[in-house]
Amino acid sequence: LASIRVDVADVEPGTQITVLWQGKPVFIRRRNPEEIAEARAVDLGALPDANADNANLAADADASDENRALDENGEWLVMMGVCTHLGCVPLGDGAGEFNGWFCPCHGSHYDTAGRIRKGPAPRNLPVPTASFVDETTIQLG
Ligand code: FES
Repeated sequence: LASIRVDVADVEPGTQITVLWQGKPVFIRRRNPEEIAEARAVDLGALPDANADNANLAADADASDENRALDENGEWLVMMGVCTHLGCVPLGDGAGEFNGWFCPCHGSHYDTAGRIRKGPAPRNLPVPTASFVDETTIQLG
């Protein structure tokens, strides 16, 4: 897999950037404390997809917010920007009923950890292979 490095030094809390990787959009969001708190307060039993869907973790890791975020504090969320229903690109920046992402194609709502909460999409937005190579650079792949 070809990897790329993304400079995230200018990404402010509460905003996100979208980069293209392997021909697909990847959302890199720097969450603010409210988004993190909201994601961490969710009862895992309320999640339609209880799996982390995180390529960096074991296949059976649960969908806790800690297992979705890239860093321990939960500030950084990296996910494929591809709806798990039929592949549209969801809208972000607090969109939808769960303040995360909303796919307008058929109405799927994702929360502030990118987990599916309502609508036809079956799975959480997948977290790709990603890591910090230094404080302000994220490597995908
Ligand atoms: Fe997103 Fe159908 S493609 S809801």
